[in-house]
Amino acid sequence: MIKGVNFAPSKASLSPEKASQPTSDLVHGRQSKRSQTTVSNSSSNHHDRSDQATSAHVAVLLHEAVDALAIKPTGIYVDGTFGRGGHSRRILSRLGESGRLIAFDRDLAAIASGNEIKDARFTIIHSPFMAIQEKLLEVGISRVDGILLDLGISSPQIDDADRGFSFRFDAPLDMRMDQSSGETAAEFLGRASEQQLMGVIKNYGEERFAKSIARAIIKERDDGHPITTTGRLAQVVASVVTRFEPGQNPATRTFQALRIFINQELEGLSLTLPQCVDLLHPQGRLAVISFHSLEDRLVKQFIREQEDRDDLPAHFPVRAADLPQPRLRGVGKSIKPSRDEVAQNPRSRSAVLRVAERTISI
Ligand SMILES: C[S@@+](CC[C@H](N)C(=O)[O-])C[C@H]1O[C@@H](n2cnc3c(N)ncnc32)[C@H](O)[C@@H]1O
Repeated sequence: MIKGVNFAPSKASLSPEKASQPTSDLVHGRQSKRSQTTVSNSSSNHHDRSDQATSAHVAVLLHEAVDALAIKPTGIYVDGTFGRGGHSRRILSRLGESGRLIAFDRDLAAIASGNEIKDARFTIIHSPFMAIQEKLLEVGISRVDGILLDLGISSPQIDDADRGFSFRFDAPLDMRMDQSSGETAAEFLGRASEQQLMGVIKNYGEERFAKSIARAIIKERDDGHPITTTGRLAQVVASVVTRFEPGQNPATRTFQALRIFINQELEGLSLTLPQCVDLLHPQGRLAVISFHSLEDRLVKQFIREQEDRDDLPAHFPVRAADLPQPRLRGVGKSIKPSRDEVAQNPRSRSAVLRVAERTISI
């Protein structure tokens, strides 16, 4: 879907009471300090560091997600969201000499971090995962044994003021995961209509004050003060949001909404999931970690649809063998971080892992 066109989640998926905590300023792990495609294939020694790397990002549900992939030592795996490689390193530690791991990230800093892995079995690609099929074909791969998507942004992204993701700093309002392309949040606020802005904040932030926020942002612009910094945006939002969750910044939902919109996160995910199913070998696994209710609902509904492909009316005269067969089988229930993990890494608290397996049928 083209940016600027409103990707509205279904009405049913938007009930505010069902919304999980917005996570604009909550990301996965943190122990931190404050479309061009490039493919890098490193060579030489294997790295067997399976646990946390020396990065500022603490991988969430690390053991659970990698276990869920049921890794075969000779298999081909994809990490669609390399970040700082916590999951990738663990996957590599489970692969034998002939196994392969292809990682994607749209963030150049993540790609630089991936390039530090010197391992002939590992390839990193600078691309949104939405191009997964095309990019894998370019490196000669048409089927894989498992795919992991650990959605959202990483701690290094949110903790770097200059990336403009966080209301904790006053910095240019950027919010692009891929700083080499696309429109910044400031540019969007500089051109959006009030209606469009309201739609984004309401749909992606599940924010009940969306209308007042949009009006306040447009008024600033009309008065000759377009909003170009995180600090100013947080102030303007706070001036009209009178109710918000205890302990949360009033701008949390607005920041989440703009980030999702600028990075086309839901469109990207909904275009990627069907490609993952096509790519998986029978019994290959798909594992997705979501951090807010909009993306988790999308994943859950997708798995359900693929499990239940019989949408013919009841008593329709068709033989069971001729019915469309399920392409995925959900594996177990959704998995959340343990209390210990949340205590050690509070940013993991909204994570949900869902796992599915490719069936034999086409
Ligand atoms: C939560 S972090 C992943 C952390 C990683 N699992 C680790 O252990 O370090 C998400 C990463 O995915 C990247 N990302 C998010 N959406 C993406 C997309 N659509 N395509 C490619 N990369 C994406 C972000 O740039 C970020 O680096």
